[in-house]
Amino acid sequence: MRIRRKPWARPELAEWENCIDVPAENRGKWKSLFKNDAPMMLELGCGKGGFISKLAVANPDINYIAVDIKSEMLGLAMRNIKREYAEANREVDNVYIFSQEIMLISKVFSNEDMFDRIYINFCNPWPKTHDHKKRLTHNNQLMQYREFLKDGGEIRFKTDNDDLFLSSKRYFAECGFELTFVTEDLHNSGFDDNIETEHEKMFSEQGIPIKFLIAKKLTINPAEKQGSESEICTEKVENCDEKHENMNDN
Ligand SMILES: C[S@@+](CC[C@H](N)C(=O)[O-])C[C@H]1O[C@@H](n2cnc3c(N)ncnc32)[C@H](O)[C@@H]1O
Repeated sequence: MRIRRKPWARPELAEWENCIDVPAENRGKWKSLFKNDAPMMLELGCGKGGFISKLAVANPDINYIAVDIKSEMLGLAMRNIKREYAEANREVDNVYIFSQEIMLISKVFSNEDMFDRIYINFCNPWPKTHDHKKRLTHNNQLMQYREFLKDGGEIRFKTDNDDLFLSSKRYFAECGFELTFVTEDLHNSGFDDNIETEHEKMFSEQGIPIKFLIAKKLTINPAEKQGSESEICTEKVENCDEKHENMNDN
């Protein structure tokens, strides 16, 4: 994915105490980083941080962590978070961010870092079959998330992409999640607890309905149900990567 260089991002992130430099050092200890016992929630692939900045400032009684692999994105997220909190006249006291490859997220969180909720918004659809394992909702990733998501905790997932949404419903079922809310058109679903992300705004302005689901973690051990890629994911989604790339170049 292409993104314009932002030479300021790394130095500015290094100066900010809410950006964690070596996240793996906090494995098993994330709770103690926050100076209270509030529930923890996680956003995977936060991009420019439009979502997490609004969510965290609106919910001072919840602790948030937002992750993205690109420092350019994290730099923009940091600036958005600072701006939202400054406008609210508040210290940034309930959100941390860091750079991490999410496919290796188990190096950063363990079953001593239990989250109540995980948000995944507009992750890359990886349309080619041989790339499906890189999807942030693929079984390989969901089985990692189970380790640090509380029983009864939930994953909230939004996408513009029909094929990814269809496949993801299956991934969640195979990995021991119950779908408690599913809509093919979030903005006309009556669901009012929504904060729009940057990609969501772009896709809905193009008239593309937003797909959304809430998946609740069941206590069962789904390991034996874990299947391989099936044939239902073969629909080709033309230009999908391009649409995402264009969005990231601002
Ligand atoms: C399409 S953007 C969506 C950004 C934002 N969530 C939104 O809805 O506007 C996907 C984001 O996930 C990040 N990302 C994709 N794959 C990742 C991975 N394997 N590990 C960490 N971050 C990833 C990208 O850098 C990018 O910022």
